[in-house]
Amino acid sequence: MTVLGIESSCDETGAAVVRDGTLVLSSFVASQHDLHAEYAGVVPEIASRAHVEALLPAVRSALSEAGVGLGWIDAVAVGNRPGLIGSLLVGVAGAKALAWSLGKPLIGVDHVRAHLYSGVLGERDGETERRRDEVKAPAGVASGGLSPSQDLFPALGLVVSGGHTAIYHLESWTDIRRLGATIDDAIGEAFDKVATILGLPHPGGPNLDRLAAEPGAADRAIDLPVSRLAPDSLDFSFSGLKTAVLYEARGVPGSGGRFPRKAGSLGAEQRRDLAASFQRAACAAVVLKLRRAIEQAGARGLRYRSLLTGGGVTANSRLRRELASLAAESGLGLLLPAPEYCVDNAAMIAGLGGVLLASGMRDDMGLQAVPTTA
Ligand code: KG4
Ligand code: ZN
Repeated sequence: MTVLGIESSCDETGAAVVRDGTLVLSSFVASQHDLHAEYAGVVPEIASRAHVEALLPAVRSALSEAGVGLGWIDAVAVGNRPGLIGSLLVGVAGAKALAWSLGKPLIGVDHVRAHLYSGVLGERDGETERRRDEVKAPAGVASGGLSPSQDLFPALGLVVSGGHTAIYHLESWTDIRRLGATIDDAIGEAFDKVATILGLPHPGGPNLDRLAAEPGAADRAIDLPVSRLAPDSLDFSFSGLKTAVLYEARGVPGSGGRFPRKAGSLGAEQRRDLAASFQRAACAAVVLKLRRAIEQAGARGLRYRSLLTGGGVTANSRLRRELASLAAESGLGLLLPAPEYCVDNAAMIAGLGGVLLASGMRDDMGLQAVPTTA
């Protein structure tokens, strides 16, 4: 089954063609970063208008890159939740129009769940197979006779992005329960705000990742807090860590709310060490909660087979290493998205859409754009 996917939940307009749920024939993403840069954040009205202009060119690019015409498309999948309502409406309206005019099925896909799915995507047959091979059943669990998707479950899921930070329990691609989520900032938001404090240009997360990886960067130079919350909590909190970085950079504000030091007063070495120390604390918080989730499941006699990860922050070099170590030590198969599928894209929408369609799910012209996740 060949699915055309459409993504427009925030500030990227994506269109992709994916065959049989995993084989990405094309994935085109038009970013609006430049339009929002001067406001230091996404302006919803600007985002909606930009999606209107970018959507059809994105679909055309995805089709031509895949070497297929609209007649080859078996179904249309669209990210219909969660996100900015005006942005979602553009993608949903476009997807409905295409599905209706082609007489093909339409399926709405939850963007956060699609991030969980993004690790199974591959560009070529060989690549897809390689990704599947990375998912090894833990010792003692027979995998013979099961399809690759069944091998994954029950799975522990992690989404770390600019808008979401949450842990999930997955019995299948349709039976998903959230175990915990951030109570304040998303981790990507913390990366972006800390990057601003350190004077790094947009995009903050990748630039901070690069600064923290510079030779000599000392990740233990500054002792920053790793939020634990209640002993059994699987929720996250990143606002305290972000404030700790701000105070480290500018000093603790006095009675008038003034900082003792000006912005930009840190030396190159201090900025590098602070970036590395922040990244260490942020990654430690994620790994700590995943370890807790694995232990809590173990106490109930449940053994996860795999760790499914997604979202922009899974592009972070340190987090990728730490997730690989955690998975190895816990006997979990690890699915990390390829770098291009970490951030928002339509391939993950088309991929998961294909799986949902294959399981018999369909939407009709009543499909709604919804700002919240399922
Ligand atoms: O998944 P995504 O594109 O959008 C949302 O659904 O929110 O994630 C974007 C987030 C941004 O906060 C960006 O700074 C962060 O992912 N990000 C990174 C890296 N690459 C992207 N954060 C840390 N290290 C990176 N290498
Ligand atoms: Zn996203």
